[in-house]
Amino acid sequence: MKNEISTFPSLKLRWINAQCFEFKLPNGITLLTDPFFDMPFFEKNKGHSVMGFTADDIEGADYIFINHTHGDHIANLKQVYDRFNSKIICHSSVALEVAKSFEVSLTSIYPVDFSGHYIFPGFTLDIFHGTHHPIDFSYKKMKHDKFIDTGSKVENDLNILGSIFNLNFLMTLSNGLRIAFVGGNDDGMNERLKQIKPNILIRNKMGSSRDFDNVSRKFADNFIDSGAQLLIPMHVEQWANEKVNFLNSEINDINKIAENNNVSGRAVLLKRKQWYNLGIFIS
Ligand SMILES: [Fe+2]
Repeated sequence: MKNEISTFPSLKLRWINAQCFEFKLPNGITLLTDPFFDMPFFEKNKGHSVMGFTADDIEGADYIFINHTHGDHIANLKQVYDRFNSKIICHSSVALEVAKSFEVSLTSIYPVDFSGHYIFPGFTLDIFHGTHHPIDFSYKKMKHDKFIDTGSKVENDLNILGSIFNLNFLMTLSNGLRIAFVGGNDDGMNERLKQIKPNILIRNKMGSSRDFDNVSRKFADNFIDSGAQLLIPMHVEQWANEKVNFLNSEINDINKIAENNNVSGRAVLLKRKQWYNLGIFIS
C-alpha cells in the first residue's frame, strides 16, 4: 500500500497569485479561482505578476470561479478557458459581459446568485454577497483612466464592474471539508462564518495593500470568530514581493494572537506555485 501523503485522495491546493488558487478535489475535479498570474499589457502591475508562469502551467480547471471582474482577477481567464474548456462560474449580473468580452461557449458560463446553493460533482458552493474595498472611481472615470485599465480593451467594462461587488463562497466537499473563500470587506461574513464554521478560511486582506494598520489584529479577529483551523491569507502578493518581512511578521502576530486566545488554528502563508495537501493525516 502506498503511504505517501501526496498520493492520498486529499484536497490539494496551491496559491498562484492574488486570489488565484488552483484546487484539486479528492475526486479529481479541478477548480481555479480568479485567474491572474500574468498581465503583460499592464506595465504598472508587472511586479504583481508571476513572471514566467503561463496558462500552460495550470494543471486543471474544470471550473473557473470569478470573485469579481477586476483585471487582476480575470487577466488570464481566456487562456485558461481555451486550454480546459472550463465552466466559468460568475455572478449572473456579469454573465452577459463575460460572454461579450471573451470568445467562450455560452453554455460554458455558469451564472450564480447571492445566497444560492449549487451542486457540482463532489462539491457544493454556497454563494455570499461581498463588497469591494472602497475605490473612489465612477464608471466614466474608470472608463477613461488607463491607470486602472488592464490595458486589454476586451475586458474594460468587466474591469469597471469589478468594483461593484465581491462574490464569496463556501465550498463543501463530499467528505465534509468546508473551505470559505472571502474577498473584500467584511460585509457580514464574520457573522456568517460563526454559523458556518469552515475548516479553512482563505481570506483577502481587510483593506488595500496600502493599508498597513492593524493587519494582524483584523485578520486574527476574523479568523478566531470563524472557528477555522487554518487561515490562508490571499491577495498579499504586493507585500510578498515588496514587504516580505512585514508580511511574515504579521503572520507571526496572527498566530501569537490565536495562541493567546487558546485557539488551536493557525495562519499559514503559502509559497506561491507550490502544491499543498490538506486533510487529517496520521503518519
Ligand atoms: Fe478588485
